[in-house]
Amino acid sequence: MNAPIPPTLRRPIRELPDELISQIAAGEVVERPASVVRELVDNALDAGATQVTLRLLAGGVRLISVEDDGQGILRDELPIAFKRHATSKIGSLLDLESVATMGFRGEALAAINSIADCAILSRASGLNDAYLLDGRTGELGPVARSQGTTVEVKELFYSTPARRKFLKTDATELAHCIESVRRHALARPDVGFAIWHEGKLVEQWRRCLDMPLAEAPTESALAALDQRLSDVLGPEFLAQSVRVDWHSSQTNEYDQPALRVWGRAGVPDAARSRADQQFCYVNGRFVRDKVLTHAARSAYEDVLHGHRQPVYALYVAMDPTRVDVNVHPTKIEVRFRDSREVHQAVRHAVEDTLAAPRAAAAAGAVDGQPQAPSLLAQPGAYVQRMPVAPMYSAQPAIKFEADTSLVGHRVSDVSALWQRIPTPQEGWAAVGSAQVKEEPAQRAGDTEQSPLPPSRPANHNNEEAWPLGRAIAQLQGVYILAENSQGLVIVDMHAAHERIVYERLKTQISLTAPDGSVHPLASQPLLIPATFAATPDEVATAEAHVATLNTLGLEISPFSPKTLAVRAVPTTLAQGDAVELARSVLAELAQHDASTVIQRAQNEILGTMACHGAVRANRKLTIEEMNALLRDMEATERSDQCNHGRPTWRQLTLKELDSLFLRGR
Ligand SMILES: Nc1ncnc2c1ncn2[C@@H]1O[C@H](COP(=O)(O)OP(=O)(O)O)[C@@H](O)[C@H]1O
Ligand SMILES: [Mg+2]
Repeated sequence: MNAPIPPTLRRPIRELPDELISQIAAGEVVERPASVVRELVDNALDAGATQVTLRLLAGGVRLISVEDDGQGILRDELPIAFKRHATSKIGSLLDLESVATMGFRGEALAAINSIADCAILSRASGLNDAYLLDGRTGELGPVARSQGTTVEVKELFYSTPARRKFLKTDATELAHCIESVRRHALARPDVGFAIWHEGKLVEQWRRCLDMPLAEAPTESALAALDQRLSDVLGPEFLAQSVRVDWHSSQTNEYDQPALRVWGRAGVPDAARSRADQQFCYVNGRFVRDKVLTHAARSAYEDVLHGHRQPVYALYVAMDPTRVDVNVHPTKIEVRFRDSREVHQAVRHAVEDTLAAPRAAAAAGAVDGQPQAPSLLAQPGAYVQRMPVAPMYSAQPAIKFEADTSLVGHRVSDVSALWQRIPTPQEGWAAVGSAQVKEEPAQRAGDTEQSPLPPSRPANHNNEEAWPLGRAIAQLQGVYILAENSQGLVIVDMHAAHERIVYERLKTQISLTAPDGSVHPLASQPLLIPATFAATPDEVATAEAHVATLNTLGLEISPFSPKTLAVRAVPTTLAQGDAVELARSVLAELAQHDASTVIQRAQNEILGTMACHGAVRANRKLTIEEMNALLRDMEATERSDQCNHGRPTWRQLTLKELDSLFLRGR
């Protein structure tokens, strides 16, 4: 090994040899066999392949061969393909700005050729002869093959043994290679994929669509995508997810929606402990992007709590000039011209999808469509039930009403809530009584005593059509049992009612009116402003968001260049720790846009109220009341999960009941 060069020794400036430049580039592009696989499959797809076959030896370290049936490469162009910065995909800056192919940098083959033994075999479309180019020797000779191209890469990193040492076991490298193809496969149901390892077929996904998914996929294209998602991620993914199909109202110059988002979003129940089933695509390219993952995650905010990771496959289509794909050598990152627009699009697309109650969909479910959450499908589900928190039983029972003017009836309860002095930890949860108290107050008196009739009189003619069925009994003061066409429905009545109350509060109470005007929270000046040493970020955020802070009842202003002073806090939080509150709000504002923060703060307040307003355990319900609750669930957005992300109902099908009793049908 060479001795390190002393930094003080003066050396002449020289141009690096081509081979070395490629090896340096390879350092960026090729981390492991899976990176080579990604580049070669990219090339195959760019060549219009309908079938891509990957063959590997020793996890790809000894051999990676990618065979396609694409348009092939002309004999005379074969040697150019191995050259640095040689590409057929762009020719000008204009092309670069609207690139539609996976590749465009023209460096993958050169880079790979500099760190492995490569060969290309190709027969161009419309020609009868095929040629093989040896990347090492540059020899070009005839071979036999059908239309398309095979690129063979042997002994990866043979010339850079240090890199080779970084590789993991064959099995791990194989897994990465498969993952790489999986990402391609999920975007291209119009292409068949096969993966062989050591002569054995390890994965195969058949082509199930004639044409690539266009910017505006048809119903049949989306069905093909479902098929592919099921093939690659398993039928559970399909069964436990809902179709996303959203487009923006703005149009582009061709009168098409400027932004489209489609794919599938997993139901909250399907969330996992790892983020290993989250796939995002921008114009057909798999990307890892903070804007997209954050948008997707925030769409689950209201239905998935804690650290569970949602599953989804989302495809964003937009004008290519509005997204820069040339920001990362492996093109896995992108930069949006308007990331806010994309964030909102993805968030809305997923949120809207998740909002629809799934009972109705499940009632008419066909194979491959989302099913009702099943008890038996989840081993351990029986014992997993979260007990209703004991604190409820200690409180006076609240009358259960399914009336739409529910806010009004809970006034006494709500004001009781506000009399409690919130602890700083509760922070947000207690902000914001102002709007709540005002409007419903005048109705409080007359409604307090009278038990109300259910919101919709139970219509007995329609029983058959009720997705959540007809209530038959109440179990242990906790569950409602109902019968529907599929069997038995079990509802956690507190959880379900809590969601209904919450959703209703959300529509009735808003800091921002539909006309955009803002009703700030009641605020109380502090006698002595609370000052704290602030970071430059916090100071900047406080200055930039004065209006939003005011909406939230906060007044925070600079005291000195490095100190902020909290001068007013929301009335309801006057007893809490003003500095802690200010810090957490500033942190939120630094990360998210103002409307998101306001919305979140508000949702947390309402969530707490809903929990208090919802029917308690051990409260006897009449059949009428139970049916009213079921009908409300069917009509309420997000009613499949309670506010804490737990399921509100389960279906036990007749088939499952039969199998419990070993009854052959
Ligand atoms: N499988 C293939 N089928 C047809 N042409 C290919 C294939 N692989 C590579 N090529 C040709 O070789 C060129 C160089 O490939 P590459 O180094 O990956 O650069 P890029 O994909 O960025 O253009 C491509 O532009 C393409 O014309
Ligand atoms: Mg390429």
